[in-house]
Amino acid sequence: MKIVFLGPPGAGKGTQAEKIIARLDIPQISTGEILRRAIREKTPTGLEAQSYIEKGALVPDDVVVRIVRDRIAEPDCKNGYLLDGFPRTLPQAEALATFETIDAVINLEVPNDLLIHRLSGRRVCAACGYTTHVDRGEDKCPKCGAALTQRKDDAPESVKNRLEVYDKQTKPLIDFYAGKGLLKNVDGSMPLEEVTAAILTALGCD
Ligand code: AP5
Repeated sequence: MKIVFLGPPGAGKGTQAEKIIARLDIPQISTGEILRRAIREKTPTGLEAQSYIEKGALVPDDVVVRIVRDRIAEPDCKNGYLLDGFPRTLPQAEALATFETIDAVINLEVPNDLLIHRLSGRRVCAACGYTTHVDRGEDKCPKCGAALTQRKDDAPESVKNRLEVYDKQTKPLIDFYAGKGLLKNVDGSMPLEEVTAAILTALGCD
């Protein structure tokens, strides 16, 4: 199954993607993760992407389309994949449609005040990528023991910008995919396990 996860920053796309790929045995393709790794490794793509990401702007369409097209061509994607964070502009969605046919688009809906709470309290493990929230009271990564840190783009000014960018550039994709009969709205404000169950139901996989 070829799935797209849509939703604003902090909606829980990455958190839910981990659960769904384990259940469906397909790879997760997170453009945000791929770009952050490129920044850590100081590759040419990473150096180009860094300033956009830190201020909460989108990386140019041609860069992310190339990343996704190359990743989808890898053998582990032949039975499907979950796109987390792509597409997020109309030109990206139109480009994707030229080389792939998507089966379902899950749109995670979460009100803005909850998004801000989730992003301001999010902590990530720099070593293994584990994601948590200060509300859970973890003082180090429970998976590998490394320190938990805050993403640079979770700083308040950057969060404000990301939410504005989402409204202007990504929200139009809701109508785009609804028009194709692919959109499934899921309430992302529920507890984690309930959101996972609702996504599986929406996908017809429960
Ligand atoms: P990306 O990494 O994709 O960030 P994002 O879309 O802003 O999404 P987030 O990772 O912030 O949130 P999420 O929805 O995954 O939430 P999470 O599960 O972590 O992109 C980063 C940047 O890269 C972009 O700004 C852009 O610059 C660039 N980029 C990436 N893709 C691009 C593209 N296609 N085109 C151009 N540029 C691109 O959850 C958030 C928090 O909430 C966590 O603490 C989690 O523990 C908690 N939480 C989640 N669900 C629940 C729940 N149900 N109950 C309680 N807590 C919850």
